Amino acid sequence: MTPTLRLNDGRQIPQLGFGTWQIDDREAPETVGRALATGYRLIDTAAAYDNETGVGAAIRASGVPRDEVFVTTKVWNDAQGFDAARRACEESLTRLGLDAVDLLLIHWPAPRQDRYVDTWRALIRLKEEGRARSIGVSNFLPAHLERIVRETGVTPALNQIELHPRFQQAALRKVHAEREIVTESWSPLGRGGILDAPAIVAAAKKHGRTPAQIALRWHLDSGLVTIPKSSNPARIAENFAILDFRLDADDLKAIAGLDDRGGRIGPDPAVFG
Ligand code: A2P
Repeated sequence: MTPTLRLNDGRQIPQLGFGTWQIDDREAPETVGRALATGYRLIDTAAAYDNETGVGAAIRASGVPRDEVFVTTKVWNDAQGFDAARRACEESLTRLGLDAVDLLLIHWPAPRQDRYVDTWRALIRLKEEGRARSIGVSNFLPAHLERIVRETGVTPALNQIELHPRFQQAALRKVHAEREIVTESWSPLGRGGILDAPAIVAAAKKHGRTPAQIALRWHLDSGLVTIPKSSNPARIAENFAILDFRLDADDLKAIAGLDDRGGRIGPDPAVFG
């Protein structure tokens, strides 16, 4: 049902997934369970979200076969470095109750620590050991990507970055295209902030959809992987019900006009961590 993209290691990733930032361990079994029952087949968590135990419980209780759910987790900034990152992955797997994740990411480059190359070497080893089926990064800027590829010869499969209609990241996406790195959008709705933009509202009217559905469809039609978060049952369903229409060239042109150099809402990866 969900369209997929091919990663540079030959594996497939669903283009539409479920984000779990700000869903805590107590809420996760029910909310993630609802997402799986709705049809989401990519679940995005992280050690830093403090919900891996609940996310793992939801996956096991869902009845969905393990090989049909694409599970992503991430190594936090306090576990940068070769040994620490390997330990952090084992701890995440224990909490999740899984033998392997589908995708393991370095959560932030944290350039002031200057350990992301060694962290990347740990992820390369974890992939060889079968603990992570694919490996990638998050919040990496072009210079960080260039450096890990130059120093290890291994290109990440994916970079998960802040990306929404007000912050479209054209320059970074061009680098990704050149290196065959899939782009995954976090905060695809700009934390809800793009839902009243005139171009989004107009397209919603035209297609008989909600603004959130237009924004999420924009991610899919732009060749991105997207992971909206919602704790609300109606919105969990709404955000998944976007697989039966497409935006047209006029919609895409109008939404392109929402891009704003100052549109970043999260931390700046050049200094964070
Ligand atoms: P809630 O969990 O109450 O639904 P993003 O993924 O861009 O970070 O946005 C997440 C935020 O957007 C959350 O606050 C979430 O709140 C809200 N949200 C998620 N889906 C929708 C929707 N379909 N319409 C409006 N707000 C939404």
